Amino acid sequence: MAVTLRSRTRRARRRNVLKVFGAILVFLALLGVAGVVTIRLLPLPEYSEVAAVDPGFKSTPARVERGAGLVAMTCAGCHASAEDQRLIGRALAELPKSWGEVAAPNLTVHKRAGLGAVGDAELVRAIRTGVDKDGKFMPPYMPRYSRMADEDLAAIVAFLRSDDPWVAADAAKPDDSKPSLGVKFKSLFTWRPAVASAEPIVRPSRNEPEALGAYLVEDLLQCNLCHGSRKDSLALAVPIQDPDYLGGGIEMTDFNGKPLFGANITFDEEAGIGRWTFDDFRRAMVDGARPDGTPVRWPMPRYAALDEVELAAIFSYLSNVPPVEDAVEPAAEYRIPGQKLDRGRHLFFKHACFGCHGDKTPHGVVFDAAAHFETDAMIVEFLRDPSATRPRIAMPAYGQRMDDEELLALAGYVRSMATALRNK
Ligand code: HEC
Ligand code: HEC
Ligand code: HEC
Repeated sequence: MAVTLRSRTRRARRRNVLKVFGAILVFLALLGVAGVVTIRLLPLPEYSEVAAVDPGFKSTPARVERGAGLVAMTCAGCHASAEDQRLIGRALAELPKSWGEVAAPNLTVHKRAGLGAVGDAELVRAIRTGVDKDGKFMPPYMPRYSRMADEDLAAIVAFLRSDDPWVAADAAKPDDSKPSLGVKFKSLFTWRPAVASAEPIVRPSRNEPEALGAYLVEDLLQCNLCHGSRKDSLALAVPIQDPDYLGGGIEMTDFNGKPLFGANITFDEEAGIGRWTFDDFRRAMVDGARPDGTPVRWPMPRYAALDEVELAAIFSYLSNVPPVEDAVEPAAEYRIPGQKLDRGRHLFFKHACFGCHGDKTPHGVVFDAAAHFETDAMIVEFLRDPSATRPRIAMPAYGQRMDDEELLALAGYVRSMATALRNK
């Protein structure tokens, strides 16, 4: 009798404990949902107290010219339209999905859609600290250039204010970014605007390769944005302290929606570029080809505006980064059609033209070969060295990689694609 009574009370107590426990769980779940909803609804934080100071930059023709090269290597990768490279902004579908839906705005001189009505003070604050023209925090998918040399920044601003066709007023307006929950959370609670130095920032001289390499890799070109380790693709604050610094693995998406990964650019002999010569490296950076001839695919930029001294400084910097042994997953494979069937199509895939021009009909960078080239020979001439006629073009040169006969076959295919697109 006593035993059953005790076991009954014990059962009742257990039931009560379960009830309380259940209530707590429901409460926590509701709290979680409320938290998620709150974070979604909260605007990004304001930092109007981050001073916007007029830098007093003057525009000179030399600055505009240098600025063009700097913008091509840095800002254009995100802010240029995929179609014709003008800085009218675009959705950045290649960024890791975990960042949300991100779009880079129009940087042309247009008064409403672009930077026409934004003063130098606000513009410089945005570039240096990540606080936008209205004082709002931009998550670090807009990189911070807090240590960019004043002279380089002056050149970039001069170019953005110039009458260059790249920044000619255009009313295009990409959608606003929709940061993911994680990015929103970090923007609210962890990240802060970068702090711009009050002291002048001087570009390291060309006689100091070590300082120059560090400046180019860490502060100006920020290779870590794409070559950072896979662990935290937005850990941009102190990347160098990451033990896998420049070890690669961040997943991006190419123009055709297939995954590709930032490469391991440390000097590990197996997983990285430890066996590359300086010539191999220059070719990958400037022409976009690996030592085995395979293309280094978009969105890896073409660093055509770097000179030998700068390239050597970067190469030497990378050789001193602790090697990371982890190999990066290979990018998605494309089926390369046999050359007997259609030689031009075969070459289009073999040389990864699809990486920028699309794998079926041209999307990504659309071309209008029919309008721009009267003859196939002119297309061949263009493919040999696109920068000969369009100096800032992001497209690699193919003159060293294919002979004239191959280039001609490719030109025929390009024309057929362009015609198919026109007739669509
Ligand atoms: C990795 C891609 C990326 C690169 C590289 C990049 N930006 Fe941006 N930028 C963005 C994105 C994305 C935004 C919008 C941020 C947002 O939606 O909060 C932005 C916003 C801006 C803004 C808007 C600020 C405002 O007041 O509204 C300016 C100005 C700007 N970028 C200038 C530059 C310049 C100049 C460079 C080159 C030195 C550059 N960006 C490089 C992605 C990039
Ligand atoms: C916008 C993103 C982005 C930026 C910025 C970037 N890279 Fe890359 N890079 C890539 C991607 C993606 C690949 C891999 C391409 C592929 O798989 O074909 C790559 C490949 C490479 C390769 C070829 C490595 C190999 O093993 O095949 C080298 C070398 C390289 N990058 C160096 C650099 C350096 C140095 C910088 C900075 C000056 C830099 N990259 C900046 C995206 C970027
Ligand atoms: C890294 C990206 C990239 C790769 C790879 C690439 N292109 Fe391009 N291509 C571009 C860009 C950017 C343009 C310039 C668009 C503009 O300025 O209007 C362009 C322009 C062209 C044009 C001129 C289009 C016109 O209407 O004026 C042709 C033709 C062309 N590419 C063919 C090719 C072929 C063939 C391959 C492969 C052998 C290739 N491209 C590889 C980026 C690329």
